[in-house]
This record gives sequence, structure tokens and C-alpha cells, in this order.
Amino acid sequence: MKSMIYELIDKLYETNTLSSAEFYELFTDRSEETDTYAKQLACKVREENFGNSIYIRGLIEFTNYCRNDCYYCGIRRSNKKAQRYRLDKEDILTCCEMGYGLGFRTFVLQGGEDAYFTEERMTGIIRAVKEKYPDCALTLSIGEKPLHTYEAYRLAGADRYLLRHETADDEHYGRLHPPELSAAYRRECLQNLKNLGFQTGAGFMVGSPYQTTETLVKDFLFLKELNPEMVGIGPFISHHDTPFKDEKSGTLADTLFYLGILRLMLPCALLPATTALGTIHPTGRELGILAGANVVMPNLSPLAVRRKYLLYDDKICTGEEAAEGLANLQKRMEGIGCCIVVDRGDYPADR
Ligand code: 5AD
Repeated sequence: MKSMIYELIDKLYETNTLSSAEFYELFTDRSEETDTYAKQLACKVREENFGNSIYIRGLIEFTNYCRNDCYYCGIRRSNKKAQRYRLDKEDILTCCEMGYGLGFRTFVLQGGEDAYFTEERMTGIIRAVKEKYPDCALTLSIGEKPLHTYEAYRLAGADRYLLRHETADDEHYGRLHPPELSAAYRRECLQNLKNLGFQTGAGFMVGSPYQTTETLVKDFLFLKELNPEMVGIGPFISHHDTPFKDEKSGTLADTLFYLGILRLMLPCALLPATTALGTIHPTGRELGILAGANVVMPNLSPLAVRRKYLLYDDKICTGEEAAEGLANLQKRMEGIGCCIVVDRGDYPADR
């Protein structure tokens, strides 16, 4: 008998949603064959909405100072072994200049929650980048801030904001983070970002400690409701200087499956094949694209600091995932019938 799972995948493709019970069944009764079917359908949906275009984002990891102490993260406050660094405005502009020349039209400023970058410093950087590169989109990924600060970033010209929700289950959130962080405040931040008109990105790690089918179902229902323009998911990978050093990593198969399900649920979303996915498998990013992803985020940070932004062990940082490797990345994308484009790569409805 043909498994019910195919019908659920078809239903998700046709209606872009499933009930909690249906998601649960879909996530529990998967097989290699049904995974393949979901990924193929997701790939088709990507092509329907984006053709063979793959968008690139130039990732600038400008500070690894962080006031937070997330149990999974290598740049958590308590990791005294992390070599801390920060880039200043001029360094950041130099990265953008290199990136612009290579064809990047989106810059992502990502960093820990670093008090040095006050609202004033940050808005100064945002204005400088947008003034010099008015044809580029600027994305921020610098954590939880009060509403007025997000508003100031927006007024200064920032277009997009990435803030993974990490898990939509409050208890699970509590097992990944210290007590001073809360899932409710994270959700409030995401709603504020959406209300301010940012193209907003949420997301979670696949295979994070204590993740269950139930928490994953909640993630998908949460994402459906939030309807973010971007969703970043990648495998959890342990870092040797964190409380989760002995926890096992998320798998390639699971990450690809959930990417495919995301594409079927949010057909127009911008979905990156993440660095973490490229870290657990040599062709992880291509496989991500073939499961429905349509974005890659090569690293534009200066070589001297790149090895210090270690969220997890063995993070790749000098090969095709780096901006210098763009020509190779283009070849790899062409190898799977895709093409990197020089484009801001906005959410389709905003084009
Ligand atoms: N493995 C995989 N992803 C991680 N992140 C942080 N630490 C890890 C890890 N050990 C992800 C988090 C965060 C994003 C910037 O990186 O989901 O939101």
C-alpha cells in the first residue's frame, strides 16, 4: 500500500499547510523514499518561484563579543577561550567594497550581542553602508533589542533582520538557554521586526539537544503563523567549549527533509543552504538547494578574523563558502542546473 506520507506531502504542496496531527505523522513515518519525494516536490516549487536563480548574501561577522550564554554556541559569554574581536565601520566598509566588486547586492552584518555597538554606532554603520551602496540590501543579525532600537535601525536604512526563534517550545527553549533569555521575548522581537517592515528571518537548528517531534511540529506551526520572509535552518553541531560538547550533531538527512518541508509550506520564502549544512557534508549546500533552498551566504569577513567566529567545531571558512571562492561556488551551482545572480534577492512580493 502506498504510504499516507505521500498524501500528506501532496496536501502540503497544494494547501501550504497541515494540521498539528498531520505534521506529527509526516515527521514520524518518513522513509528514504518519502524524503526523496518531498525534496523533489520542494525543488519544483523553488523553480516555479525563482527559476534557476540562487541568491547570494555577503556575510560579515563583525563582532564575536556576546553578552548571552546560550548553551550551544561557541561564542557564548562564558567561553573564556574564544578569541574576541570586533571590526569597526571602516573594516566593514572595506568588506562591502570587496563584496560589491564580486557581485554581492546584499550584505549581512552578523554579530554577537555586543554592547560596544550602541544604537548610535550601529545606525552610523547602517547609514554609511546604505549611503555608499544604495542599490544593495542590508540585513542585520545582531540579536534581541528593544523596539525603539529596531525602529532606529529601520529608519537608518536596514532592510532585513535575521533572528532565529531557535525553538517554538518554551520548555525546550529553556533547556537551550540560560534563564535570563525567554522564548516569549524572542517571539515579541520577531513580531516587532515584522511590524516595522523588515523582511524578517526566523529559524532553528535541526537536531538540537532535547528537540523532539513535538517541538518540531510547534516550530512549523509557529513559522506558518509568523510567515517570515526568510527561514534559516541548519544542523546543530557541537562546540568543544560549551555545555553541549558531548551532544550529537543534527543529521544531513533530517536537515534536507525539513528544508524541503519548509519550501512546501512557505513557497516564496528565502531559504539559505547554511554554512552549518556545508560543514557536515562536502556538498551539503548543493544538496540543500536540491531540497528547496535558494540562498547561499558566502563569508566576506577579513581572513584574519574568520577562524575566530566559531559557533561550532570545524566551521568551514576558506573554501567555496568564502567570497573568494565565488567562481568555484558558481561552478558548483551550475553543476546542479542553478545560477548565482547579481541581485538583491528580495522576497517576491516586495519586488
Ligand atoms: N551549531 C549549529 N548552529 C549554531 N548556531 C549557534 N550555535 C550553533 C551550533 N553549535 C546558530 C544559532 C544562531 C545562529 C547564528 O547560529 O541557531 O541563531
